[in-house]
Amino acid sequence: MTSRMFSTVLSAFERGAFPRSRKWAWRFLYNSLSRFWGDRDWRFMNYGYMPEGAPFPLKPEDEEERAFIGLYQQAVEGLPVDNARVLEVGSGRGGGSRYIARYHKPAAVVGLDYSPETVRLATKLNADAPALSFQTGDAEHLPFADGAFDIVVNIESSHCYADVAAFAREVERVLTPGGWFTFADMRSKGTIGELDRQLAASGLTLVSQRDISRRVVAALDAANERKLKRIGRVPFMKRFMSEFAGAKGSVLYKGLTKGQVVYVARRYRKAG
Ligand SMILES: C[S@@+](CC[C@H](N)C(=O)[O-])C[C@H]1O[C@@H](n2cnc3c(N)ncnc32)[C@H](O)[C@@H]1O
Repeated sequence: MTSRMFSTVLSAFERGAFPRSRKWAWRFLYNSLSRFWGDRDWRFMNYGYMPEGAPFPLKPEDEEERAFIGLYQQAVEGLPVDNARVLEVGSGRGGGSRYIARYHKPAAVVGLDYSPETVRLATKLNADAPALSFQTGDAEHLPFADGAFDIVVNIESSHCYADVAAFAREVERVLTPGGWFTFADMRSKGTIGELDRQLAASGLTLVSQRDISRRVVAALDAANERKLKRIGRVPFMKRFMSEFAGAKGSVLYKGLTKGQVVYVARRYRKAG
């Protein structure tokens, strides 16, 4: 029953139904999760990415979160992060911004999120990282000056927005000439073309595009046990949480494995 309800809601959202209510609903959900579920060892809310080949370097204390850090590692790999001003839009509980701040020597990282409770939690959970701050704001109206950032990161957040093209235009505005926009998120197979048109509204140059679905499924497999353990600790909504977390057997897990849902990574650059 929960699965059917979940997939009905997802497909209504996918069809672009109720964009403003959808935005409000996501904020309500993330505010509630952060208010009632403040686990100190839960810093990521993405489905993860396991690269092929040799594992990327991580400190032993970060190994547990390898699958989720993977999405950020692939997002910034090879980009000029050293001494850069980095903005993450939709930073959630802050683990990704924290990873960039601790491993890639940026001048500063700002994590922006629409959910005030999540921003409060991210600030608390990531106080140990250098040059990192979090603030509340909307992806579609970025509260920053033109050209304020060298790199904008956006991971698994855009599916919550009412107007992705407006977000893309804002990214272009806050990027400095020559700056980078690195993006990853999922959509149902039939709407990837629309997503690309929305992102193209930025006027930025598309530099690379990849379908990373298989590597995301590998991460879902790798993290499954840990997620089930966490979900097992909550007294209610276990079924909903296992759908939300993309546990094995969930609507999302099946969609990704069957190719009905596609997880993409894109990189864009602003003309110098
Ligand atoms: C699935 S979580 C991903 C969080 C983080 N990127 C990660 O990988 O752990 C999506 C996040 O996007 C945020 N979000 C949703 N709509 C937003 C908006 N309009 N502006 C900024 N953030 C938004 C949510 O509050 C949530 O924290």
